[in-house]
Amino acid sequence: MDIDPRQQSAQANYKLLTNLVVPRPIAWVTSLGEQGQVNLAPFSFFNALSADPVLLGFSVGCYEDGRLRDTGVNILRHHEFVVHMVTEDFMDVMNLSATDFPASRSEVEICGLRTQPSLHIQVPRLPDVQVSMECRLYKHIELGKNLLVLGEVLMFHVQDERVGERLHIHDFYPIGRMGSPSRYCRTDHVFDVPRITYEHWCKESEDQNRS
Ligand SMILES: Cc1cc2nc3c(=O)[nH]c(=O)nc-3n(C[C@H](O)[C@H](O)[C@H](O)COP(=O)(O)O)c2cc1C
Repeated sequence: MDIDPRQQSAQANYKLLTNLVVPRPIAWVTSLGEQGQVNLAPFSFFNALSADPVLLGFSVGCYEDGRLRDTGVNILRHHEFVVHMVTEDFMDVMNLSATDFPASRSEVEICGLRTQPSLHIQVPRLPDVQVSMECRLYKHIELGKNLLVLGEVLMFHVQDERVGERLHIHDFYPIGRMGSPSRYCRTDHVFDVPRITYEHWCKESEDQNRS
């Protein structure tokens, strides 16, 4: 089926995009509200963007009344945030943190999560989560009604048990978002496919042609 996004509503395009570009990692983001309350919300329009500088990006949309979501407002005001990766043990609280609580309420408190001061920024992080990344706003770009936030990672925090020799990360299986509104996947079914060089490919092709 061919589907022209220009011929259908934004809602239909959202449905298609979020069910086709999958699985998406989930950025679970803490930021500071105006009164210093710790805001927490998940964002799956998210990915790693550059290793030098170390950048990640996620996009914050608007509420139905057109207001930018609190995370975006907080980051534009304060320029700092922490991105956490969500594993299955935090599934239910992650889901709860996506509720449209008023900006004055702290989802961290509502979810009963522990916080710990960050090393480089004022926004605290969630120490019980396996991976968190302290970020400073690098750049923001308005994309229609969305705000693309690019963050420079100032510090990675990785649970000791996950890090092996030469920074090999093991037994780390964050959940993925498979579609909206509520479909997810596990990532513990993994396999390795070594990459080959052009030289190797040429040699294999020659061998095949000979046989
Ligand atoms: C798994 C998941 C992923 C989400 N991804 C996004 C996203 O990429 N962009 C967005 O604007 N909202 C996303 N949402 C919705 C927000 O998390 C939700 O609107 C939340 O209340 C925003 O909180 P805030 O106003 O405190 O920032 C997602 C929700 C869930 C459950």
